[in-house]
Amino acid sequence: MIIAVWIAFQASRSLVRGLLLTAEALGGGADAAAAAAAAVPAVTTDRMGNSCVCREDSDAEGNAGPREPGGQAERYAPPPPPPPPPPLSSSLHYHHHHHHHSSGGGGGSAEAEPRNRSREPVRPPRRGRGPHEPRRKKQNVDGLVLDTLAVIRTLVDNDQEPPYSMITLHEMAETDEGWLEVVQSLIRVIPLEDPLGPAVITLLLDECPLPTKDALQKLTEMLNLSASVAKQDASNPAKHRNTTAVLGCLAEKLAGPASIGLLSPGTLEYLLESLSAQSHPTVMLFSLIALEKFAQTSENKLTVSASRISDQLVMLESWANHTDYLKRQVGFCAQWSLDNLFLKDSRQFTYEKVNLSHINAMLNSNDVSEYLKISPDGLEARCDASSFESVRCTFCVDSGVWYYEVTVVTSGVMQIGWATKDSKFLNHEGYGIGDDEYSCAYDGCRQLIWYNARSKPHTHPCWKEGDTIGFLLDLTKKVMIFYLNGNQLPPEKQVFSSATSGFFAAASFMSYQQCEFNFGAKSFKYPPAVKYSTFNEYASLSPEEKIILPRHRRLALLKQVSIRDNCCTLCCDQMADTELKPCGHSDLCMECALQLDTCPLCRQEIKTRVRLISHIS
Ligand SMILES: *[C@@H]1O[C@H](CO)[C@@H](O)[C@H](O)[C@H]1NC(C)=O
Ligand SMILES: *[C@@H]1O[C@H](CO)[C@@H](O)[C@H](O)[C@H]1NC(C)=O
Ligand SMILES: *[C@@H]1O[C@H](CO)[C@@H](O)[C@H](O)[C@H]1NC(C)=O
Ligand SMILES: *[C@@H]1O[C@H](CO)[C@@H](O)[C@H](O)[C@H]1NC(C)=O
Ligand SMILES: *[C@@H]1O[C@H](CO)[C@@H](O)[C@H](O)[C@H]1NC(C)=O
Repeated sequence: MIIAVWIAFQASRSLVRGLLLTAEALGGGADAAAAAAAAVPAVTTDRMGNSCVCREDSDAEGNAGPREPGGQAERYAPPPPPPPPPPLSSSLHYHHHHHHHSSGGGGGSAEAEPRNRSREPVRPPRRGRGPHEPRRKKQNVDGLVLDTLAVIRTLVDNDQEPPYSMITLHEMAETDEGWLEVVQSLIRVIPLEDPLGPAVITLLLDECPLPTKDALQKLTEMLNLSASVAKQDASNPAKHRNTTAVLGCLAEKLAGPASIGLLSPGTLEYLLESLSAQSHPTVMLFSLIALEKFAQTSENKLTVSASRISDQLVMLESWANHTDYLKRQVGFCAQWSLDNLFLKDSRQFTYEKVNLSHINAMLNSNDVSEYLKISPDGLEARCDASSFESVRCTFCVDSGVWYYEVTVVTSGVMQIGWATKDSKFLNHEGYGIGDDEYSCAYDGCRQLIWYNARSKPHTHPCWKEGDTIGFLLDLTKKVMIFYLNGNQLPPEKQVFSSATSGFFAAASFMSYQQCEFNFGAKSFKYPPAVKYSTFNEYASLSPEEKIILPRHRRLALLKQVSIRDNCCTLCCDQMADTELKPCGHSDLCMECALQLDTCPLCRQEIKTRVRLISHIS
């Protein structure tokens, strides 16, 4: 029996972004294919693309202004070169994981260090239906989607193969018909109340092949959306929130003409109507996110901006501090959109009016992965992207006892805790806080403590909206303690074998997650019984350092000083300062460019390499 399994991976966001897994089993049928998926290490054939992403940390240290309680000033020596990334990550990014394995040393997963971990068994195929059986019953697709949701919850170790159900769905989605069935099934069965529900939609669509123009056209016809559809059953939101959530995920994946095509006049009307007052807040939330994703394509952005959207958003933005956590999410997103995306002429930007006089420590807008949304007061953050977004605080601590609190606005996967400067954010690969030896994080959704990309269960119940998580760092005793609404877990010590100072409060977010930080500017809900300090007491930020500029302002500023803040897509270390001729791509540094014969993006032969000298530092 000959079995071949391969995964071709391309991470280019706007082109092909998916996991294509083909299992061919000659004479063995479905069982062999499933067994192959379990047994054969995945081999990545293509490691190019933009999967290597650097955070903007160019001026992070200037902004951080770390100070010890004793008043000792700036302590930074240049950080030691970071170690190669560990072979694991804690978010649910399978493709990136495979990518990592093969790029890590060429050996595939066989070379991963041996350790005893419980593997989720790959599900056996349902009786009588092989993965290549052309036509499937609808409930079978639904079953596979629900299976994926069920299995995802238990998968905490990304070293595992993707679940069988997911592999099968990806495979089905290779045909237009199959893709449409998968999308319809996602709309039909994924429960959005489940904190992992929307994330599974994102995950499945993200890994499926891109739809063809025909498939998108058919989907538009099948959904047949319009303002009147949005008005129907406005009181029964299940239908609309499913549709809006799936539209958002599709819009994130698509670009250019495909995105413009999907945002038909009917779809636009439908989404705008879904933002109106009689809609359920979940429907509003996912409609707004969908519109935001569509607006990634500039023609769509113009179309959406020209509608009545900003007037609707102005009304919703007052919910940003609502006591209902669902409405608060709508308010947060409305405010963010008004500040960053769908601007309104007469409106003052939030950053221009927010009173930050009492805030001395905040989330660092210069030390954050690219898609995280941070509120203008620097204390609330949210991720609506499919990547695993991370951020650190502006203030760094080296000694003493420190405490901060986080209120979770959503109850899905976030990893919140402590990180050092050496912790890396690789959002597209799914690496966040707790995924290296320099950070440790609390995950209240999956009930885990993360350190070095390994997890162990903790005894707290699942967190829910409004819960308060406490984070105590005792650098004298070298322990970290996590609290849920005042109940403490046993101390964590592992991270101190790698780092004993230079800690920042830090957090990573999966899709649609949001939380609010309290670094001491407000009184704590559950102050621990020990003596501790707060960042807000000891930190200080100049008024300029507190400003979190909207994206467009920030970009304008960057252009003005003509700083190229992008780094080489190969080494992620040097500035991308080299233009390749004749193709004209300029995403590499000279050192990497010199080692290549063909352009990694377009595969054209490189004739010459020209160093660009436009950046000023
Ligand atoms: C893994 O550990 C369990 C108990 O912790 C043990 O029963 C099992 O044999 C171990 N498996 C391997 C492969 O070492
Ligand atoms: C949306 O999903 C829910 C499951 O959470 C389901 O009960 C409902 O029927 C779905 N709506 C539609 C229109 O399929
Ligand atoms: C789409 O909806 C409109 C009403 O909004 C209806 O007149 C039309 O027949 C529908 N088209 C299809 C193909 O169902
Ligand atoms: C929300 O903020 C507004 C001012 O921005 C304030 O008037 C209102 O009382 C706040 N609401 C709550 C519930 O804190
Ligand atoms: C900002 O808030 C502080 C209290 O936190 C207050 O004393 C100050 O007057 C406020 N400034 C403005 C401009 O409202």
